[in-house]
Amino acid sequence: MNKKQFLRLESINKRFGGVHALKDVSLTVEEGTVHALVGENGAGKSTLGKIIAGVYQPDSGKIYVDNCCVKYHSPREALADGIALISQEIALVPQLTVIENIFLGIENNHRGLIRNKEIRKRYYELIERTELSIPPDIPVYCLRIAEQKKVEILRAIARNARLIIMDEPTAILSADEAQKLFALIRKLKSSGTTFIYVSHFLEEILSLADNVTVMRDGQCVKTSPVEKESRETLIEAMLGRYVSLGFPEKIYPEPDAPVALSVEKLSREGIFYDISFQIRKGEILGLAGLVGSGRTEIARCIFGADPKTEGNIKVFNKIVNPTSPKEAINAGIALLPESRKLQGLILKLPVIYNISLPHLRKVASGPFIKLRDEHNRVKELLSTLNVKPLDPWIEARALSGGNQQKVLFAKWLFEKPKILIADEPTAGVDVGAKHAIYQLIHSLAREGIAILLISSDLEELIGLSHRIITINRGRITGEFSGSDLAEDKIMHAIFSTAS
Ligand SMILES: Nc1ncnc2c1ncn2[C@@H]1O[C@H](COP(=O)(O)OP(=O)(O)O)[C@@H](O)[C@H]1O
Ligand SMILES: [Mg+2]
Repeated sequence: MNKKQFLRLESINKRFGGVHALKDVSLTVEEGTVHALVGENGAGKSTLGKIIAGVYQPDSGKIYVDNCCVKYHSPREALADGIALISQEIALVPQLTVIENIFLGIENNHRGLIRNKEIRKRYYELIERTELSIPPDIPVYCLRIAEQKKVEILRAIARNARLIIMDEPTAILSADEAQKLFALIRKLKSSGTTFIYVSHFLEEILSLADNVTVMRDGQCVKTSPVEKESRETLIEAMLGRYVSLGFPEKIYPEPDAPVALSVEKLSREGIFYDISFQIRKGEILGLAGLVGSGRTEIARCIFGADPKTEGNIKVFNKIVNPTSPKEAINAGIALLPESRKLQGLILKLPVIYNISLPHLRKVASGPFIKLRDEHNRVKELLSTLNVKPLDPWIEARALSGGNQQKVLFAKWLFEKPKILIADEPTAGVDVGAKHAIYQLIHSLAREGIAILLISSDLEELIGLSHRIITINRGRITGEFSGSDLAEDKIMHAIFSTAS
């Protein structure tokens, strides 16, 4: 059956200053289908979504909805045509209740809203139709993020949205919540709603979408039915080259390589106890454990960000026991923290300062020529990490998430540490960036840096680590190397308590 086309884009262009975010993008979306958009961080997916939904206006090109040429000047106008955007950032009024948020703007008189029986009736109809149950009268800020997403979806449906654009909706949902969302999307689709669905989870796309468009560097590389695609073909199109999904081949440090980091009977009352391990020069030690097992706390303690109750931390056999991150850095320890946006970057500052600021003392110790050194070193790091755009002077906030993450990496590599603690280094990045980060960790180890790698992705941890220790409830429950680096064995240790 030939579906009717709902949306057609013709040669859309969009620039942000020097960045050509969308280049001649043409795309057709059929009614009642799920159309997926994939691409590396920075490929232009969110920008495209925002243009369709009237958040941004294209510099050139045409948009047709139901075969009529449209020009939206605001999201409101797009919504009036039945186009709703559920963006990466939550866009609700936190102090207002669920029901107010859903119907705000549909009812002009917002004071009378709560008492309005009609609205309540519509609310329960909506709940019944979508099977999304959320208590109507609590303020939205009291809800968990996943629940807030549901409110946004309800809000779109209450407006009879015919096209719902979802930008990475599952990035913040649990697996269970994601399944519920997919069920809802399928249901709405069967009643004729169209979706544009942006996600990094290729499995998700292959099972949910009808068609998929791959974007790369602001262009649409290809559009095809998902049956014709696989993880491999999508990744190849996204990156423009073939990438093996495997891990770099492990190169083990010499057995007599000196011990770079030695953690001895480290305890922090109430959080973790009696943690002892060593990492040799050039070795990658994986730290496995559930979220909340104490992994991050151990890392923070070694980095001097949290106090210890007992134990010693030695770097190349010298007790350092840092009491602040500054002391840890001086001792050669670097930490790539878990929640990057909040902890690591100053979003308003250009990339170059984000990378070199913590090290400026060193760079600025001489006359002018040093500035050029700084610039060159930053450029070199940005290109090694394949940061896009490759512009040291762009503000950090203008970069996409994965690229911001790479900038954080660069910050720590600017001055080579002896020990790098990487806490979930690939959380939330696209496949291409993930692969680059794997290569990077691998080559840092080869250069002699000792690495403590924390990851919830067991496949990744096994793929990269020379050795793994498991933590449960703040205690070490096992150590694995060689042929013992197997998922089932490690999984077992993650869930078992220390004897
Ligand atoms: N408001 C903005 N100001 C400046 N540059 C932007 C802005 N929004 C996006 N960009 C740039 O446009 C490009 C595409 O970004 P985006 O659409 O967010 O990519 P994606 O969603 O695929 O990760 C990136 O290079 C990004 O840095
Ligand atoms: Mg995006």
